[in-house]
Amino acid sequence: MVDPALAETMPPKLTAHTGMDALTHAIEAYVSTLHCPFTDPLATQAIMMVDQYLLASFGGDKSAREQMHYAQCLAGMAFSNALLGITHSMAHKTGPAYSTGHIPHGCANAIYLPFVIRFNAKDEATTARYALIARHLGLEGDSDAALVEALCMKIDQYNTALNIPHTLQEFGIVESEFLEKLDRVAELAVGDACTLANPRKITPAEMAKLLKAAYYGSPVDF
Ligand SMILES: [Fe+2]
Repeated sequence: MVDPALAETMPPKLTAHTGMDALTHAIEAYVSTLHCPFTDPLATQAIMMVDQYLLASFGGDKSAREQMHYAQCLAGMAFSNALLGITHSMAHKTGPAYSTGHIPHGCANAIYLPFVIRFNAKDEATTARYALIARHLGLEGDSDAALVEALCMKIDQYNTALNIPHTLQEFGIVESEFLEKLDRVAELAVGDACTLANPRKITPAEMAKLLKAAYYGSPVDF
């Protein structure tokens, strides 16, 4: 029988990872090629609720935790209909790939999300969609590109506050193993079902570059 005191306490690390997973679900659904007027409000409401409640939930606030349950469900309703994107493709295929241990799903998404946003935002229509998300969060910027960068910085701030690494190197993946497996992992990630709804097409070579950017924390200039 589970100790009732333990049963009612979700560990902070799991709270952080699942919260960032929900944020990724909502953001990917919002910019997906299959987004529609039914999924957009679900996604934006989920994003605003994660922004409002995740850090308090991480700190153990029970009413914030309740709100995060609702946000998770809203994000789930959004992506069940609009599908996801390459943040999830990368998380699915890198999660079990390395001998140093599994990269938890939500942690992997949290690491990749800012890199994917910068990659997808090379597409003008997608930049405008990310800028709308930034506006929903009350972020400031004098152009859509500035708003996209503000959104990426906001995600970096969440990761810092939630003790989530910012790169695969920081997570502890060994460089030689990462490089040895890079081309195969990139190929598998492009072939993941989530790649189909991503707003910008990606080749295996570009995916390898994106994974390298997420490993070293380098700029996404391609
Ligand atoms: Fe997910």
